Amino acid sequence: MSTWRLECGACGEEATRHKATVCAHCHKPLLARYDLASLDGAALKKAWSTRRGSMWRFREIMPVESDEDPITLGEGETPLLAIQVEGDAADLELLVKDEGQNPTGSFKDRGLGAAVTRAALEGATEFVAPSAGNAGAALAAYAARAGLPARLFIPEDTPDGVARRCEHYGATITRVDGLIDECGRLSAEYAEQTGAFNLSTLKEPYRIEGKKTMMLEIVEALDWEPPDAIVYPTGGGTGLIGSWKTLEELRELGLITRSTRMYSVQGTGCAPIVRAWERGTDHAEKWEDAETEAWGLRVPGALGDFLILDALRQSGGGAVAVPDAAMREGAARLGSAGIGASIEGGATLAGAGALRRSGALKAGERVVLFNTAHLLTY
Ligand SMILES: Cc1ncc(COP(=O)(O)O)c(C=O)c1O
Repeated sequence: MSTWRLECGACGEEATRHKATVCAHCHKPLLARYDLASLDGAALKKAWSTRRGSMWRFREIMPVESDEDPITLGEGETPLLAIQVEGDAADLELLVKDEGQNPTGSFKDRGLGAAVTRAALEGATEFVAPSAGNAGAALAAYAARAGLPARLFIPEDTPDGVARRCEHYGATITRVDGLIDECGRLSAEYAEQTGAFNLSTLKEPYRIEGKKTMMLEIVEALDWEPPDAIVYPTGGGTGLIGSWKTLEELRELGLITRSTRMYSVQGTGCAPIVRAWERGTDHAEKWEDAETEAWGLRVPGALGDFLILDALRQSGGGAVAVPDAAMREGAARLGSAGIGASIEGGATLAGAGALRRSGALKAGERVVLFNTAHLLTY
């Protein structure tokens, strides 16, 4: 059974579930709230452990009703790999959640798998989204699986290989002279004109629900002992917000007692969350002239900025910026451990080193890094 309601993450206003977008009142992201009090945590834990095949084994706290079938490509169930490194992070117990092993090579499969599932169940006939590459490929693949067309707006300088990946699954691509925020504006306009479902980050409530399963798998793999900290490469922030939401839900279900400190890592050339964190503000000002090789992190302004900052604060974590060269070196080091790491994955190792240097991470702590995409997706 899975029954949920939607509530605004900012003003708390309730929203209707049908074809939900953002809060009608303040236009901020909506969050799914399950009736956790009616669920038996211990029974769930047991049921989840007996199921295999995709992220939907956690379906009781995901957006499907018991008689609904999700659209799946077998996403999730990615390994949590222990690594040993030299340098600043050497005395940490490092684990890498290798999201490169998802169907289209990135963690975006979880979010878009959930969003496409819900939208298709609610009668979508077409999907649209902006993308820096990985989200586009994931949307294209899940739309294909649903038998529905997808339209993607991508920045002009997105490499041809990335666009071809989306086209492989049958998506229609429009290249845009601008960054991801301009692509987002055009996606919203397209949705308005055509009635296509807009699956932009946090413009609908369900991508978070898919991303949430990363942290569910991590905590389960660690025998229900959440790690001391996670270092998450933050763009729009759905994965970080989702991870925090998982911990809150597991606490409410009585499945965990301790928590995890959340750290955001961004590039020094586009670090709106880090700047806001350092200034102690609730919202992040838009970053002008954003520039980083890590396209996934080139998000000058995140709609869920206040939710990201709130998760960092509530969890006792923080935020750190690292230069592209350090991200590349981090990716190479993960490569030396046999992991096909994207530059964003490399950023998390670089971030862990910087956080260890500053004393935010302590010797011996168990820290989970996210390799959010496979090297080959680039
Ligand atoms: C590889 C990669 N890592 C990280 C991110 C940022 O993820 P989030 O939007 O969850 O902050 C993206 C987003 O495009 C990405 O493609």
